[in-house]
Amino acid sequence: MKHLPTLLVALSLFSCKQEEKNQPTYQQAGDAAVAEGDVANLSPEAKLGQEIFDGKGNCYSCHKPDQKVIGPSIQEIANIYKAKKGNMVSFLKGNEEPIVDPEMFETMRTNLILTKTFTDEELKGVEAYMYSFGK
Ligand code: HEC
Repeated sequence: MKHLPTLLVALSLFSCKQEEKNQPTYQQAGDAAVAEGDVANLSPEAKLGQEIFDGKGNCYSCHKPDQKVIGPSIQEIANIYKAKKGNMVSFLKGNEEPIVDPEMFETMRTNLILTKTFTDEELKGVEAYMYSFGK
C-alpha cells in the first residue's frame, strides 16, 4: 500500500488538469471528475475497452492503472507489450505464451475462458485501453 498516497496525489493532479482543459464547469463534482476526466481523452475504441475492462471482463479487480495488486499494473503490462511487440489480442484468445509474469500465468489463465468469447472488436478495444497507460 505504500504507493497509495502517490497514486492519490497523481490522480488529483490529473483531475485538476482535466478540469482546466476540458471541463471548466466541473469544479463541484469532486471524485466523479477523475472518472469523467479519464474517459475524456480515450479513443472510441479504448472507451469500449474500458467498459469491458471495468465491466463484464472484471479485469479491474486484478489490474490497477499503476500499482501491482493481484496482477501486474496496466501500465507495466502495456510497457512490456510495447517493448516486446507482444500480441495482446492473440494472447487473450489463448494463442500466445505469457510475456509479463509467466510464473503467475495460472491466475490469468482462467480469464482466457472469458476473453475467448469476446469479439475481435472488443479485444482490440481492451488492447487500446490498456496501451493508453503505456509510455
Ligand atoms: C484473478 C485475477 C485476474 C483477473 C480477473 C484478470 N487478470 Fe490479467 N493477469 C493476472 C495475473 C496474475 C497476471 C500475471 C501473469 C501473466 O503474465 O500471465 C495477468 C496478466 C495479464 C496480461 C499479461 C499477459 C502476459 O503476456 O504475461 C494481460 C494482457 C492481462 N492480464 C489482461 C487481462 C484482462 C484483459 C482481463 C479481463 C478480461 C484480466 N487480465 C483479468 C490476473 C488477473
